Amino acid sequence: MISGEKTFEDVSVARVQSYWNARPCNIRHSPKEVGTKEYFDEVEARKYFVESHIPRFAEFERWKGKKVLEIGCGIGTDTINFARHGAQVTAVDLTEKSLELARRRAKVFGLEDRIQFFQANAEELSSYVPLDTYDLVYSFGVIHHTPHPERVLEQVRQYVRPGSTLKIMVYNLWSWKVGWILFVYGKGRFWKLRQLIAEYSEAQTGCPVTYSYSRTDGSKLLEDRGFRVTDAMVDHIFPYSIPEYVQYRYKTMWYFRWLPKPVFRWLERAFGWHLCLTAEAR
Ligand SMILES: C[S@@+](CC[C@H](N)C(=O)[O-])C[C@H]1O[C@@H](n2cnc3c(N)ncnc32)[C@H](O)[C@@H]1O
Repeated sequence: MISGEKTFEDVSVARVQSYWNARPCNIRHSPKEVGTKEYFDEVEARKYFVESHIPRFAEFERWKGKKVLEIGCGIGTDTINFARHGAQVTAVDLTEKSLELARRRAKVFGLEDRIQFFQANAEELSSYVPLDTYDLVYSFGVIHHTPHPERVLEQVRQYVRPGSTLKIMVYNLWSWKVGWILFVYGKGRFWKLRQLIAEYSEAQTGCPVTYSYSRTDGSKLLEDRGFRVTDAMVDHIFPYSIPEYVQYRYKTMWYFRWLPKPVFRWLERAFGWHLCLTAEAR
């Protein structure tokens, strides 16, 4: 946090925007020339290899012929997959840099007619995106990075009707990753936990806002805004050694290497970093 900021609520959206504009999420997922088909194919392959729970959570095929609103589309990996599976997508992000790539991606794959992009602050969504109702509102790894996540959900209410689905991934507080951050980077300084999580939550250090939630608090965030949570699934522990990972090689850390696969999966489902909430609008 910088001076004048006591809590994440004090952080300006402009600062969030400048952080994500400097390095859009997953932009280094491929060494190929940025913006080419090969680049986008490799970005997708790496993302769904490392985060294989995403297609299971998003259920891309379920939204064929339906209307999907995606909040915080980043460079558009999930966006493209909703469109590829036949959904009509409205995709929103705060940053021009991410949208530039997401738009290019839609063009490269001939999906421009299925996706409408908006640069928007989701906390004020209705000032940017025409009101409409959607079958699915999807947001993966986004609302915990905005100073007022509850405002995003209040906005989302205007884009759903009873029975619409909401799928949101937020970070899980009771996770291996938070334990790692606390003990390895924070040397146990639990009183600084919130700042430590923000500092080390992303590939690039110094994220201005990173909230994390217990299953109960994450569910309450949605329930208090008129959604009925139907599933709260935890998944994802990153098991690879970073020096090799950034060279596009996947070497499992020694302490995970010897763990039987079912035990590792149990750990992921109990203490994973991603809290994936599915809810129904009331
Ligand atoms: C971790 S990235 C996730 C991107 C994408 N959902 C994915 O899974 O690859 C977070 C994204 O949220 C966007 N974001 C953060 N705050 C936002 C806000 N208030 N309104 C819209 N987008 C926001 C950032 O610009 C960034 O692209």
